[in-house]
Amino acid sequence: MDHGEISLSEREFSRIKSRVYAVAGISLSDAKRTLVISRLSKIVRGLGLASFDAYVDLLERGGTAQDSQNFVNALTTNLTRFYREDHHFEHLRSHISALIAHKPRGMRLRIWSAGCSTGQEPYTIGMDLLAAFPELKRWDFKIPATDIDTAVIAKAARGLYPDSELSGLTPERQRLFERGEDGALQIPAAARELVSFKPLNLIGPRPMKGPFDAIFCRNVAIYF
Ligand SMILES: C[S@@+](CC[C@H](N)C(=O)[O-])C[C@H]1O[C@@H](n2cnc3c(N)ncnc32)[C@H](O)[C@@H]1O
Repeated sequence: MDHGEISLSEREFSRIKSRVYAVAGISLSDAKRTLVISRLSKIVRGLGLASFDAYVDLLERGGTAQDSQNFVNALTTNLTRFYREDHHFEHLRSHISALIAHKPRGMRLRIWSAGCSTGQEPYTIGMDLLAAFPELKRWDFKIPATDIDTAVIAKAARGLYPDSELSGLTPERQRLFERGEDGALQIPAAARELVSFKPLNLIGPRPMKGPFDAIFCRNVAIYF
């Protein structure tokens, strides 16, 4: 056990699994034991508690909304990248091309990124479509992007990324990004303006206003 980690009994692990399943629909396998210990120990210590049992007791009775949120944020898997599974974006382009030709809903376009993590998915949609169809700048085009994890939503809204995000992208795709005054890699304003980030739990009520022309919900339900 690393310094600072707290021991986790079978019973405590099972209480944590039930809790995250009830709150977020996330199903943790037994293989996630070490991950649970490493991600939650710091929170438990920060709260001045001595055990995971005491922590789950707190969450079940009387913890704050922020305590519940921190618990969920710690147990989500946020792996993502720009142009992940790029055939999906090719498919989207052909769908949008047909839509632009026929304008079935006037010049309105809505694409929901559900489970958007740190923003690479909705920003890829925005940058890719603006590059392929510049006329979309004159459309009522919006990309609402949601995730249960408030920490990733906050990162996504900044629209700033480390240079490592460019690796594996073609030079043409690398040119979709801009550099800020401090040299940081950033999403161009035109794409940033299309995307709005909000926290949303997909297993709760759905306040999203459709209709949507496309919904991206990728690599999310695999954890349910
Ligand atoms: C692996 S990431 C996928 C990101 C992106 N869609 C992609 O494919 O690259 C999964 C995301 O689903 C989110 N998630 C998990 N359970 C959720 C729930 N109940 N409601 C909304 N989002 C959830 C996680 O917080 C995480 O950011």
